[in-house]
Amino acid sequence: MIAGAGQAGARAAEALRSRGFKGAITMIGDEPHPPYERPQLSKAMLHSPDTPVAYIKQPRDWNEALGVRLKTGAAAVDCDTDRRIVSTADGRSFPFDRLLLATGTRPRRLAALEGASLDVQYLRNVEDAFQFRRHIAARSRIVIVGGGVIGLEAACAAAKSGCHVTVIESEARLLARAFPTLISDLVADRHRSHGVAFVFSATVTGSTSHSVQLSNGTEIVADLVLVGIGVTPSSELAARLGLPTVDGIAVDVCGRTAVSDVFCAGDAALQWSRCHGRAVRVETWANAQNQAIAVAANMIGEINAYNDPPWFWTDQYDLNIQVVGDMRDADHIARGDPASAKFSIIAMRGTEVVGALAVNAAKDMAMLRRIIAANAKPLRAYLESPSYDLRAALKAQ
Ligand code: APR
Repeated sequence: MIAGAGQAGARAAEALRSRGFKGAITMIGDEPHPPYERPQLSKAMLHSPDTPVAYIKQPRDWNEALGVRLKTGAAAVDCDTDRRIVSTADGRSFPFDRLLLATGTRPRRLAALEGASLDVQYLRNVEDAFQFRRHIAARSRIVIVGGGVIGLEAACAAAKSGCHVTVIESEARLLARAFPTLISDLVADRHRSHGVAFVFSATVTGSTSHSVQLSNGTEIVADLVLVGIGVTPSSELAARLGLPTVDGIAVDVCGRTAVSDVFCAGDAALQWSRCHGRAVRVETWANAQNQAIAVAANMIGEINAYNDPPWFWTDQYDLNIQVVGDMRDADHIARGDPASAKFSIIAMRGTEVVGALAVNAAKDMAMLRRIIAANAKPLRAYLESPSYDLRAALKAQ
């Protein structure tokens, strides 16, 4: 039984079959759609209206090609490990021998805008992307709350289509959760050059039918407010199982929770990360896929430790920015010239490479991902040398 029909649930179902599991697989998801990939919701789908939803498989293929019983529009609300059933909001029960919690996350809500009379939306699912696309087409005046990845990718698409966009960010800079100040400044400059306005160190405290009020006392006229202030794990099922759910659903290196035969993978899973030096939830497309594949194998008896370093990317204007591992609380070594908008930064703690980011430098990133995954330990002096070939770090392994 797989609870959750997003990227993690879908990839787990595929992996169970590709590894030879012949038993019954039921996958239940609360959205009305079969599983789809989310990155394009804030990327291609907003830039080109013709971009189709990136379904992982066509609906009937889940059953016909893979033998997976897919129940969409079914929110799992309860779980009983003695009777080994998961119950859904519409009163149905589904039996299981092993359970994968792949319930993901949901957007954090902005209390100040609950019940607002102007249009307020989040960006998490297909319907949200369609709705935002309609506003882009109408050249709406858009206020975006949150200068993180979602808010900024949406701002980019809207600004490029001629919308009037203002981003409200509670921190003093953009993307503070994962990026150093250098990147925050680079990204802010790009947005400004496309007409996006920023208000930092402020949030939205209220609204009228045509405007939002900010904590700094100003008011901004808006047709739409898009809120992208982060996500919270959907861990109600885990809570029903008595699992602790602070910051996510804790799992070991194999994706096992503290309840026997119950596993977790994807955005909701809280797992040790060498790069971070602590347990983290990884909210990325790559993790939802690769962690789920590894955990699925463990569900059918393999012992498969998962420790891929977290990796994600964002596309904004001419900037492709990729991050692997953790950039915070580390020494940064630059490769290339940041002024050229094609460079990378390597993060080291002591002798360990714990993170890296690349701006328009995909080849560097491919090597850096391998270096970090292998926990290779190239000398800092080598990395500091502009002529150092990153491939040598792997050869020295
Ligand atoms: N008002 C204004 N800004 C806020 C507020 C608030 N009340 N609360 C948080 N923020 C800001 C944060 O400081 C941060 O810069 O919102 C931003 C949220 O950024 P993220 O944490 O990156 O979250 P988001 O952009 O919503 O993305 C959610 O979806 O696709 C994934 O990888 C993506 O993990 C990310 C998730």
